Amino acid sequence: TPHSCLDKVFISNSGAEANEGAVKLARRYGKHHRHGAYEVISANGSFHGRTLSMVAASGQAKHQEAYLPLPAGFINVEYNNVEAIKAATTDKTCAVILEPLQGEGGVNIPDDNYLKMVREWCSQQGILLILDEIQTGIGRLGTLFGYELYGVEPDVMTLAKGLGSGVPIGAIMAKDSANVFAPGEHGSTFGGNPLVCAAAYATLKYIIENKVADNARKIGQYFAGRLEELKDKYTFVTDVRGRGLLLAIEFDREIAADVLGACLENGLLVNRLKPSALRFMPPLIIGRDEVDEAINILDRVLAAI
Ligand SMILES: Cc1ncc(COP(=O)(O)O)c(C=O)c1O
Repeated sequence: TPHSCLDKVFISNSGAEANEGAVKLARRYGKHHRHGAYEVISANGSFHGRTLSMVAASGQAKHQEAYLPLPAGFINVEYNNVEAIKAATTDKTCAVILEPLQGEGGVNIPDDNYLKMVREWCSQQGILLILDEIQTGIGRLGTLFGYELYGVEPDVMTLAKGLGSGVPIGAIMAKDSANVFAPGEHGSTFGGNPLVCAAAYATLKYIIENKVADNARKIGQYFAGRLEELKDKYTFVTDVRGRGLLLAIEFDREIAADVLGACLENGLLVNRLKPSALRFMPPLIIGRDEVDEAINILDRVLAAI
């Protein structure tokens, strides 16, 4: 495709379904190229969806405990540690699946060279690197795809969320070298239907033609700067982090629910990432005025907390 490093696309109905398909592709790849290798390595703190296999792939005990036993073949290892991936790699491994930066798990930013080192390891071992860009893709991090920020190319990438501007669509994308699906080997009744594809096409066309990712990068920097001001002002704000318009602030105490409630009352939608952190994922088209308005509300709320 002209705007990504991937060659082929399969359209699904959701993010979890796209990841399921990506894992099927990786297992098929393992059958063809690695003597039946089927294991997929993922990171602690990751989030890949709510189907049983994606619960197994998501390295978060709180999402797993109620559903044991989980489907086999998923190995969760320490995040941001390439040695942990190396140690978990065996002749049974067919792929590594990672988010470029972890969204649901806490807006966790990896070291700059983490993905590069994982990429090198995967290439060296002949295993697939799957990047789950369901949250980070389509401009969210200030580039069309998150992998661009880290200077790596995945073999397989999954998309959803922002791809359809609200209509249910997901996508598995693969390089030709990783595409071991022949037509008919994976499928979906509704996947690729004209209605949602028209919405996704219109979304992508708008985003690309209007350089919306650039806006997310610039406004994201401005937003992060303004959040830093709040951090300087309130000692209980301990961290501001994120890329583009995927941002989080961390408190030194568990006040996120109270802050969220007060923000809502004042007309600002935020997301409680954990008891001590909030996430901001505004529309990619916002401008400075909207950021200023949000910061003013947040400032008032924090002053009263
Ligand atoms: C990184 C990531 N992967 C997968 C999913 C699951 O997507 P869906 O809810 O469309 O199944 C999400 C949703 O939050 C996500 O953030």
